[in-house]
Amino acid sequence: MNTFTYSYPVKVYFGEKAAASSLPAELAKVGSNVLLAYGGGSIKKNGVYDELLDILKKAGKSVTEFTGIMSNPTYEKVLEGANLAKENSIDFILAVGGGSVIDCCKIVSAQAKMDADIWEFEYTEHGSPSDFIPMGAVVTAFGTGAEMNNGAVITNTEKMMKSPLWGAFYDFAILDPAYTMTMPMKQVISGSFDSLSHSMETYMGSPRELNLSDEINEATQRNIIRNIRATIKNPNDIQARSELIWAAAMAENGILKIGKVTDFQCHMLEHQLGAYTDCNHGQGLAVLHPVLYRHMMPEANKQFARLAVNVWGIKPDGKNEETLANDFVDALTLFIKEIGLPTSFAEMGIGEDTDFKAIADSTILTGGCAKKFTKEELLEVLTSCK
Ligand code: NZQ
Ligand code: ZN
Repeated sequence: MNTFTYSYPVKVYFGEKAAASSLPAELAKVGSNVLLAYGGGSIKKNGVYDELLDILKKAGKSVTEFTGIMSNPTYEKVLEGANLAKENSIDFILAVGGGSVIDCCKIVSAQAKMDADIWEFEYTEHGSPSDFIPMGAVVTAFGTGAEMNNGAVITNTEKMMKSPLWGAFYDFAILDPAYTMTMPMKQVISGSFDSLSHSMETYMGSPRELNLSDEINEATQRNIIRNIRATIKNPNDIQARSELIWAAAMAENGILKIGKVTDFQCHMLEHQLGAYTDCNHGQGLAVLHPVLYRHMMPEANKQFARLAVNVWGIKPDGKNEETLANDFVDALTLFIKEIGLPTSFAEMGIGEDTDFKAIADSTILTGGCAKKFTKEELLEVLTSCK
């Protein structure tokens, strides 16, 4: 294993009624002006908004609402939130939603405390923000695990970049599986595939020899696969959802990454696909993963072969590494089809006229990937996904 330091700042309150039992005590620790941030309004339809507003009012908070945070949040939206926070002297941000709301607020929390433009500060001056408005997250859509880290994926429409920005960690995250019961099944599946992707992209990093982080990772992947199937079979299976919401957090709470340099090449490519098409993140990953993985052979065969046996239950039966690696990618492809995720850009409504060369050229190449891709190879991957 590589040398590492491990500590984690996010306190997790997990389980049904977690907001009612934990939020009053958390709110007592923060100032009176609260920014209540959410997306397009699903929380108003399923009762989560009313429940949280009641808790905030009972805690004597003055609430400013920051609404309409879109999927794939934009930098413009971050600036809107930061201005709102400054104008209303916000002491605390409560972010309620999926990865988009949770990410957007991480950067709002930093931008509201600085005059400089945070995009330029991080990308041109290579600075790291150090002053933040404290925050809590209430997860209503699982998958990204965004509540567990301080990276936010923000779309800069002017620069045509969907890129990581570094913001604050949440002080706490509330994970109540009951809040996720109204998630559209398409989002349950694409979100959970995102969790599987995070696990795989962590596993595929280096060192490439099996270690404790990887063995926990294999269990996480098996768990996600099993519980996606269980949730499709019975959408009301709250036990399966509680496994998925925690597996999503596990994939991003640092434990699987201990002692590893992660891969995340598929994510970098998908993010740029998102910058150019505004596509659903998990669906984009589903189309890209099998194709990218075929291009990672033979360099990644050792890890692929292990995934075939330890995650997908394929019997080694004297097969060589190359055959098992192929079996793994076949199993992943079949699973993607089985759970109804798209297998081509056409199925996602991404047209032939998309500027795939610009997407490939603007994609970050990662250090932990088993194969050192060139931009030309990434273009080949994208072209094969059409
Ligand atoms: O906006 P509302 O009306 O709330 O509807 C949302 C949205 O349309 C809906 N939804 C959420 N909870 C619901 C619900 N609908 C009914 N009932 C509920 N309980 O779900 C839709 C999708 O929400 P969104 O937050 O966009 O999805 P997701 O959680 O997949 O987040 C995607 C964003 O996270 C980024 C992605 O790139 C994308 O921008 N990621 C963030 C990561 C991180 N910070 O660690 C890691 C990921 O790799 C990812 O890149
Ligand atoms: Zn992801």
